[in-house]
Amino acid sequence: MALDRQPPAELITSRRNPLVKRLRELHAAKGRREQGLVLLEGTHLVQEVIRLQLVPSDLAASELLATEAWLGNHGDLVAALSPAVTIQPVGQEVLEAVATTAHPDGVVLTLAAAALQAPPDGQEFVLVLDGLQDPGNLGTLMRTALAAGVDGLWLAEGADPFQPKVLRASAGAALALPIERMDRSALVQRLITAAARGLQLVAAVPPLADLDGEQPLPYWELDWTKPTALLLGQEGAGLAPELQALASHRITIPHSAAVESLNVAVSAAPLLLERLRQQAP
Ligand SMILES: C[S@@+](CC[C@H](N)C(=O)[O-])C[C@H]1O[C@@H](n2cnc3c(N)ncnc32)[C@H](O)[C@@H]1O
Repeated sequence: MALDRQPPAELITSRRNPLVKRLRELHAAKGRREQGLVLLEGTHLVQEVIRLQLVPSDLAASELLATEAWLGNHGDLVAALSPAVTIQPVGQEVLEAVATTAHPDGVVLTLAAAALQAPPDGQEFVLVLDGLQDPGNLGTLMRTALAAGVDGLWLAEGADPFQPKVLRASAGAALALPIERMDRSALVQRLITAAARGLQLVAAVPPLADLDGEQPLPYWELDWTKPTALLLGQEGAGLAPELQALASHRITIPHSAAVESLNVAVSAAPLLLERLRQQAP
């Protein structure tokens, strides 16, 4: 039976409303874990949720908080959302209290984290990130990964992929990519299983990385059309030794010795897009 949308709730104008406290808890990983929700900010992410049909109708926990002005201008988006999403009009001050940005554009949406969980099998092109710390790098990498056709993102610890800064930097890609975050020992197991399934495990390293005398391959010499997991290391320390040890291939983007390495998000672009280039007719 199709669900009918409930009429919008009464306008909330007080920052002391308990809803504000509950949603502010979603700014922190602990709150997201306890409530099983992530907080999406801004019209673009709401559009992505609709485009990707990310809110199954039985997820009643989803709430859209918006100013009356935003609701007045975006009736099409409200109508396109699942009827299970509660529409909550709020005053500008309440919206600013709930959002993490200084100037929210009028809307935030809570979404069950379960709607973003990854199916682990059948992935043929995977990006593996080892302990990335910087939310901007992580979001940028997600956006590039989605553009390159990556079908799974595996994270060993590092920054929380559903924190607001990452979601913003990813420009919605965090919602579209299957993402899994695990500790490093679980990742090692996952990579061993992936290798057994036939994926090549490709470690990206700076040109002068110490590999016991072995030279990394210029990245264009790798056959990227094979099922591949690309491993990128942490901003400071690079790839953990236990992950490097698992790699079947080590590749590099050659560059001047004037710098030791590239920014990790910058290095990902040529590597991930090389697969599309090699697949081009
Ligand atoms: C800032 S670098 C880390 C530098 C670190 N000192 C090291 O030796 O790996 C972060 C990650 O970006 C990737 N990376 C950076 N420059 C690269 C290059 N020229 N070729 C391939 N990967 C690169 C690697 O995966 C690296 O672990």
